[in-house]
Amino acid sequence: MATERTFSILKPDATKRNITGAVNAVIEKAALRIVGQRRIQMSRAQAETFYEIHKERPFFGELVTFMTSGPVVVQVLEGENAVARYREVMGATNPAQAAEGTIRKTFSESVGENTVHGSDSAENAKIEIAQFFEDGDIVG
Ligand code: TYD
Repeated sequence: MATERTFSILKPDATKRNITGAVNAVIEKAALRIVGQRRIQMSRAQAETFYEIHKERPFFGELVTFMTSGPVVVQVLEGENAVARYREVMGATNPAQAAEGTIRKTFSESVGENTVHGSDSAENAKIEIAQFFEDGDIVG
């Protein structure tokens, strides 16, 4: 297994409830290193581009509104098999279906406000990282 990078977002429900440190503790305990991190206010245009793949889905409007409803923390995580590892640590999209000990099971209140985003492939990780980070802002 190779060391790889994935892209993560701590969503507005995490910043609003002041639990970004608690989520980061779970990430670090899973042997993922936070090698880039920035707190930003996402614009509507940024959120629409980021979630473009879902633009025909019924929840798209609500998703964009939620993602721009407050600050988010964008992150680059590095570790062995980081893409799959982080998806495992996040848990299922719907927190009601997420496994015990996962971030979404522990912290999330609904499918719409599910605390974290993680890339679903190494290819998408590269694209998503490039949307929010310059090379110099990632220090491994
Ligand atoms: P998706 O890419 O399917 O899930 P994941 O974040 O686990 O990769 O969906 C993206 C986000 O869209 C999801 O985190 C929350 C939102 N969403 C809804 O609000 N309702 C839904 O029914 C689904 C499937 C997703």
